[in-house]
Amino acid sequence: MLRVGRRVARAVRPGGPEVVEVGFEELPALADGEVLVDVAAAGLNHAETLIRSGSYVVRVPFPYAVGGEGSGRVREVGRGVALQPGTRVCWGAIPGSCATSLVAPAAMLVPLPDALSLDDGACLPVAGLTAGGLARVWPLESGATALVWAAAGAVGRMLVALLANRGVRVIGIASGRRVEGVRAAGAAHVIDRAVEDVGEAVLARTEGRLCAAVFDPIGAATYQTSLRLLAPRGCLISYGELSGPIPPIDPRDLFDRSAFVTRFSGTR
Ligand SMILES: NC(=O)c1ccc[n+]([C@@H]2O[C@H](COP(=O)([O-])OP(=O)(O)OC[C@H]3O[C@@H](n4cnc5c(N)ncnc54)[C@H](OP(=O)(O)O)[C@@H]3O)[C@@H](O)[C@H]2O)c1
Repeated sequence: MLRVGRRVARAVRPGGPEVVEVGFEELPALADGEVLVDVAAAGLNHAETLIRSGSYVVRVPFPYAVGGEGSGRVREVGRGVALQPGTRVCWGAIPGSCATSLVAPAAMLVPLPDALSLDDGACLPVAGLTAGGLARVWPLESGATALVWAAAGAVGRMLVALLANRGVRVIGIASGRRVEGVRAAGAAHVIDRAVEDVGEAVLARTEGRLCAAVFDPIGAATYQTSLRLLAPRGCLISYGELSGPIPPIDPRDLFDRSAFVTRFSGTR
């Protein structure tokens, strides 16, 4: 049986925003455990733009329905679903979220707290899940020092808060007025990369002891600095390539401090 249709955005070939076309498709009847949601907002994060340009580490065949995270209101529920129609929900990792409505398993939907707007809900899931995973990827004891690049970004700000909440002494890096948001998130120190040399500033703030962990989503432009700022047995956690890919890793660069480097995938 066919039911309501939806308008949905699809990227038809690799490229910029101009490759996105809006089409119409019918939605199947709800199966047990499924929910029909009226989409209010879709989040378009960095991974989304990389997938659309055809340069993401994970290749998605074209055409594909755009958008993986979003927010909206429950319109109808299938059998066995406890969510009530009208409930505001958000989600991550549901392909085709850039649409007027979608059908999703109830287990993929999270009720949105009253304090958060639907716009907030559309851009928080992936950043929040990433920050939560990053905060667990390397053991950091209370009092340990961690350096967070892009600390005012979507992922960075939540990572700062999660680490600080655990007693980690966070040094956040941001630029301009965004430094205030990093301080408010709980960073012990904030370095404004626009006016300070990051290497020297970290040396000074740690009195030469450097960092047990460095969280780096920037890649090419910051890789060597991040390595240099690791304390003995410290770990560089690379999780993005905003400035381009990091160079091939030479284990001899890790020798003097028995340092570690890992790449966080977000799913493991
Ligand atoms: N592995 C995963 O699972 C996963 C999941 C989500 C996101 N990511 C990646 O994480 C990264 C950050 O995502 P986001 O959504 O938090 O980004 P965002 O909100 O756009 O924040 C990025 C910030 O990075 C800083 N920045 C940009 N270029 C820089 C440079 N050359 N040197 C130093 N800082 C620079 C800028 O802040 P300031 O000017 O204030 O410094 C910018 O605001 C992206 O690469 C994304 O692909 C990975």
